[in-house]
Amino acid sequence: METAQFETDLSLFKYDNLEQLPPAYRDLDEDERTERIEAALAELGDDVVILGHNYQRREIVEHADFVGDSYQLSKEAANADADYVIFGGVTFMAESADIITDDEQSVILPSMEASCPMAGMAEALQVDAAWAEITAETDDDIIPITYMNSYADLKAFCAEQGGLVCTSSNAHKAFEYAFDKGDKVLFLPDKHLGENTAHRLGMEDEIVEWDPWDPEGKDASAAAENDIILWDGYCQVHERFRASHIEDLREERPDANVVVHPECRREVVEAADVVGSTSTITETVENADPGDTWAIGTEIHLAKHLDRWHPEVEVLPLCGDACMDCNAMRQIDPNYLTWVLEELVEGRERNVIEVAPEEKELAQVALDRMLEI
Ligand code: 13P
Ligand code: SF4
Repeated sequence: METAQFETDLSLFKYDNLEQLPPAYRDLDEDERTERIEAALAELGDDVVILGHNYQRREIVEHADFVGDSYQLSKEAANADADYVIFGGVTFMAESADIITDDEQSVILPSMEASCPMAGMAEALQVDAAWAEITAETDDDIIPITYMNSYADLKAFCAEQGGLVCTSSNAHKAFEYAFDKGDKVLFLPDKHLGENTAHRLGMEDEIVEWDPWDPEGKDASAAAENDIILWDGYCQVHERFRASHIEDLREERPDANVVVHPECRREVVEAADVVGSTSTITETVENADPGDTWAIGTEIHLAKHLDRWHPEVEVLPLCGDACMDCNAMRQIDPNYLTWVLEELVEGRERNVIEVAPEEKELAQVALDRMLEI
């Protein structure tokens, strides 16, 4: 089996056109900033669309044309007509939007320092090396699936090896697609989403982990003997949640319900009432009866939005003050939004995410396969 050839630099920031916020934008007062954002948006009209992930700050979400989970945002990007797609999210999401949109459209990530640590846990070079080791041990067809939270070069690698992308809302469908085509799955980079999906499909006995950082965690023959090989990546925001948080809550508040994201540990997902993507979490609270209590096991901004949006429901962060915000998502500062919009009014594009053409075509295949399942 041939392995893919992609250049990748093992750095947190994938793009060297990263521009910092000019000093004049650093201390804007909220009222003035809102006024300036609205004025720029009025000037730009249909030329601009703002997409905001559910974990974005309130000041970003308030200006977004569409707020949603990764899957919904990729659909919105694919359907966008605007010349400029401003992405309130992290690098891998903006990359996917660039891949999916037309060549004439520009995708702007207001702060290019918004890099998801989990996406950096599976570098295409590392995966290529693992692939060579594992495929040397078996004649079975292995289908690689990468979570959306990965960079374009890894998405391209997956496409080249017959695989695809998935998000937290369709990982089970991606597994079904893969087992239809092949014998085994290599799932990257989130081991928890992989494990939770294997359980959902009743395949929990088929799991083996691959830890690229530990020489003893890379057993190619063990990998070859199992049907689901999980890359040892994780999200620190979601690993924070423990089953004990749910046990304590159930003791103190027997009336409370718990909804968690599938990036949480297996034991947390098992103890929860509902598990799903950030849009499932949002819908769960939206559909709750007045007076219900829901504890939220995901990034803290979404818990705060839900509390604001649904005063009729009692919304609690699952681990109280210990719930984390996502440092990557937080980089999208409303001052940055003001700056990139005002620059567009002046005809200047700042912090544009442009995936290299040699990765773009294949990465699109992997994303298209996801959009079709
Ligand atoms: P969703 O696809 O559920 O929005 O999740 C994205 C993410 O980064 C969760 O940490
Ligand atoms: Fe990445 Fe976790 Fe932030 Fe999601 S919450 S973008 S997985 S670091």
